[in-house]
Amino acid sequence: MSPADRGAGASPAVTGPGAAAPASDDALLEWRREFPTVEATLHFISHSLGAMPRGVEESLRQYAQTWKARGIRAWDESWMAVPAEVAGLAERILGAEAGSVSLHANVTLAQASALSGVDFTPPRNRLVCTAEDFPSVLYLYEGLARRGVEVVRVPAREGRRIEEADVVAAIDGRTAVVALSQVLFRTSQLLDVVPIARRAREAGALTLIDAYQSVGTVPVDVRALGVDMLSGGSIKWMCGGPGTAYLYVNPALAARLEPALTGWFAHERPFDFDSGPMRWDPGPRRFWGGTPSIPSYLAARPGYEIIAGIGAAAIRAKSLRLTERMIGWADEFGWRLGSPREPARRGGTVCVDVPNAERVCQALLAADVLLDHRPGVGLRLAPHFYTRDDEVDLAMRRVREEVARAAG
Ligand SMILES: Cc1ncc(COP(=O)(O)O)c(C=O)c1O
Repeated sequence: MSPADRGAGASPAVTGPGAAAPASDDALLEWRREFPTVEATLHFISHSLGAMPRGVEESLRQYAQTWKARGIRAWDESWMAVPAEVAGLAERILGAEAGSVSLHANVTLAQASALSGVDFTPPRNRLVCTAEDFPSVLYLYEGLARRGVEVVRVPAREGRRIEEADVVAAIDGRTAVVALSQVLFRTSQLLDVVPIARRAREAGALTLIDAYQSVGTVPVDVRALGVDMLSGGSIKWMCGGPGTAYLYVNPALAARLEPALTGWFAHERPFDFDSGPMRWDPGPRRFWGGTPSIPSYLAARPGYEIIAGIGAAAIRAKSLRLTERMIGWADEFGWRLGSPREPARRGGTVCVDVPNAERVCQALLAADVLLDHRPGVGLRLAPHFYTRDDEVDLAMRRVREEVARAAG
């Protein structure tokens, strides 16, 4: 049974109250055939785990085949080229210079690598972040605080909103790095990074943007943003599964950074097995550590190819249309939004603050409606380029049914 059939009798009319008419010519649905898995569920969880492209199975099968058939020769024959190929796709998606992106196992490690190259000697020993950044990187910054970095957390306003002006005001001559999320994971608030990056530059500070919740659903152009460093990962909007994250470092800056979190693959000539002192690679390998995680990168590649192929503008246009549709239903059902209403302020996720959100979420997951919840903002639901309008309507109706059941 397709998700559209399941419970279809109970679903609202597609052009029902509160929702705009569906698009009759949604060209992005062409890409849906690359994601057979989305036929089995109502997939509204791409802010947490994007759907698996069908190309992943073949990519990993080929990896195993190469390992089996070619053994150690696989490194030179194909594996060593993989990180640059996948990083090249990330560069295309980010509008970044060739050779400016390195791959990592996750965003936390990518940021750790970047920050380990920054000089935090007083008086410029501050890192400015926000209270709404992802906990994993906040823990990392806490670790830096134990090593003498002064961490300044810009607090949120009402509704967990971060004001760009508050971040700008926190930056001064003592700031070494401004590190913050472009789209906040909890509320999906989209921040305007440009004035923050401008102020950082004026003050002589570096920027490190966590773009995990933006890249793949919101257009990100590192040069237009004017940021020094930017990290993101594969699991969510990029449909690349766990194990691959990327780090952009502006090439002019990269040449000056000497990461302390490093490894033999960051060396200019790793296969010289030189015992030191370290000589960092002049290219993006400078930010590598030990042996690269080839199977993860191969799993990520089909998703990156698809996102690069579609282009961010088309994904964003559809995201804005479908999230508007969801907001229409939320208004209709009388739910408070935990995410911003204004298009320019919202990322790809809509949060609806329903009663008993955790229980409702569990019931929906058991019924193949994939979504999640976060304390304080309620249920988080995200359409993506593979989502049909009727699935939006059905998912919102299913949420309403479960909210009623949980209340009764
Ligand atoms: C904005 C943001 N940053 C970082 C992370 C965690 O990244 P990783 O697990 O790759 O370190 C997440 C994951 O949910 C996130 O939403």
